[in-house]
Formats: sequence, structure tokens, C-alpha cells
Amino acid sequence: MLTSRIIGFGSFLPPKIVTNDDLAKIVDTSDEWIFTRTGIRTRHIASDGESTSTLAIEAAKNALKSAKMEASDIDLIVLATATPDKTFPATASLIQKAIGGSKTCAAFDVGAACSGFVYALSCADGMLKGGLAKTALVVGSETLSRVCDWTDRTTCVLFGDGAGAVVLKAFEENEHSIKNKGIYENLIRSDGNMFDLLVSTGGPSTSELCGKITMNGREVYKHAVNNISNIILELLAKNNLKTTDIDWYVPHQANLRIIESIAEKIDIPLDRFILTIGETANISSASIPIALDTGIKSGRIKSGDLIMMATMGGGFTWSAGLVRI
Ligand code: ACO
Repeated sequence: MLTSRIIGFGSFLPPKIVTNDDLAKIVDTSDEWIFTRTGIRTRHIASDGESTSTLAIEAAKNALKSAKMEASDIDLIVLATATPDKTFPATASLIQKAIGGSKTCAAFDVGAACSGFVYALSCADGMLKGGLAKTALVVGSETLSRVCDWTDRTTCVLFGDGAGAVVLKAFEENEHSIKNKGIYENLIRSDGNMFDLLVSTGGPSTSELCGKITMNGREVYKHAVNNISNIILELLAKNNLKTTDIDWYVPHQANLRIIESIAEKIDIPLDRFILTIGETANISSASIPIALDTGIKSGRIKSGDLIMMATMGGGFTWSAGLVRI
């Protein structure tokens, strides 16, 4: 039977770093407020000439290098993003153009806000297991700085820009076992009744503009803790696993307090979680692949480790993925 394994990791953060003190010069805030409420110290911000595609291309190249694969081996590119370069075509097509995907390559974008990466991974995993592609690039890339309202201190301090990518490859296995390396199972969920709680003020078919981020922070916080904790426990229970069977938790990086509350709810120490929020802030669909790459590069995530990814975002959407690296 066909299974899919993650064989390469990459990320890219734009060089420009903006500190909380820098933000305190443009809105009424402070390093102390931001850090104690969110755990964020800095964020990377795209400069003129950088965009979601340019960040994605660098992350994709780094992932290909780590997988020791040629771009011509790639026959599927799935990009998760809420901040595409253009309303259409898909920004994934620009990644294909830049890296030179194969002539039989498919490329498309997935939009599920901060849950986007696990949604995109789920699509690519299903296509590899179904024999529709052999080697896939799955990328999360965002330039959230372009959709922040820089006069709104309640949102602009939370977000940053960056990209992360993985390479997936189809393998023949005798059985689909949790003991084997590979993507074991993903769960993806949505509740459209919560649409207005975390939403852009515009869009091509409503305002003809992309709009700016608005959110009900308290409601988002509450649902993020509950949905992420519950989907982790659901995925573990479905596979007769205990929370302690997971080597590393790789959660969406929205807010350190959200991650601390999840750790407390599932009764796992925070040091089993890969954290990047302090340096990167919230990069929506890029946050999980960046955290994966950070975990690999720091030597914490090792070959054979069992990883639980979990996230929640606008929609509301939420998702979790169980992968042996
Ligand atoms: N600096 C200083 N003061 C601020 C700032 C700021 N940047 N932002 C808000 N305040 C003020 C408010 O105006 C309010 O003042 P008031 O009491 O005089 O009215 C006070 O701080 C408290 O505001 P709250 O919104 O109650 O603060 P809270 O403790 O709830 O923290 C926060 C706000 C950090 C946004 C929190 O609700 C949160 O983390 N929510 C989750 C949101 C999130 O992470 N969204 C990311 C996208 S969704 C996702 O990725 C899952």
C-alpha cells in the first residue's frame, strides 16, 4: 500500500526584525504588555520586494535541499496561505515557476487561515496515498503584515511574516502502522458559525479589496484552547495512544498563553512543545512548518519521533496531524 513520509524540511523568515519597542513607537503599547499577554518579543516583517511567494520559494528551496530532491522530482505543490500574491492565479503556480516543477506538476492554494498547513498536508497526503502524485511540496507562507491594521494595537502586535515547507514522498509499505515513518492520520474540522469572530474586513467579491484583520480576541482565545486540546485528545484516543506517547507537540504559534493552557489541559509539560512564538509572533499557516523546521534544526526532533501538530484559525477551522518523522 502507498504511504507518505516527510523527507525534507525548510523555512525562511524575512531578514527585517521588528521588536515590541519598535511597535510602541507607532501604537499605544509596550514590550511589557505584549510579552506578558502573548509571549511575543519580535516578529519578522517582509520588506518591499518580498511577498508571500518570495518567502515560500526560499522555504521550498530549503526543504528540497534537506530532502536531497531535485525540483523536477516534484509533481504536486500545495500552498497554504491567507495572503496570496494575487487574487488569482494560485500563488503555488509562482512557486512552481521559480523552482521548476515537473511537466506533470499540479499546483494549487489552500485557504483555511491558521489551520491551513495541516489542511494542505492532508490534501497532499491523500493525493500521494491515492497515487495521484509521487512527491509533493507542502508550503505555508504568509505576509500578514500586509493585512494588519497598523493603527489597531489589539491585532497588529500579534502577527508576523514567514514561510515553512516540507517535502512529502510516497512509499510502498506492507501496512499502515504507527510504528512506520510517515503521515499516520490528520483530522480537519470547521465551524462556519464562527466566521465573523476572526475575519478580514474585505475581499475581492465583497469590497474589491483584501481588507484588514479583525478579531474578537477573547472568543478566539477560548475556542483555540478548547478546540486544539480536544482535537489532540480525539486523534490520540482514535489511535489508542496516550498523551505521553508523543515525542513532540508542534502547535500553531498564536500566543504562548494559549499553548500553556493547552499543555495544562492535556497534562504535558511545556518543554515537550516546540515554541517559536517569542521570535516569530503568529504567522498563521506558516507557523507549524516553521516550528517543525526549528525543531529539526535544533536537534530536538529526531528521526523516528512521533509528532502531534495541532492548530486553529479563522473559519473557525481547526486540525491536527500525527506524523512519525
Ligand atoms: N497594548 C496595550 N494595551 C492593549 C493592547 C496592546 N497591544 N491591546 C489591547 N490592549 C488593552 C485593551 O484595550 C484593554 O484595555 P481596557 O481594559 O482599557 O479596555 C486591555 O488591554 C485588555 O484587553 P483584552 O482584550 O481584554 O486583553 P486580553 O488579556 O484578552 O489579551 C489578546 C488580548 C492577547 C488578543 C488575547 O485575547 C488573545 O491572545 N487572544 C487570542 C487571539 C489570537 O491569538 N489571535 C491570533 C489569530 S487566531 C489564531 O491564530 C488561533
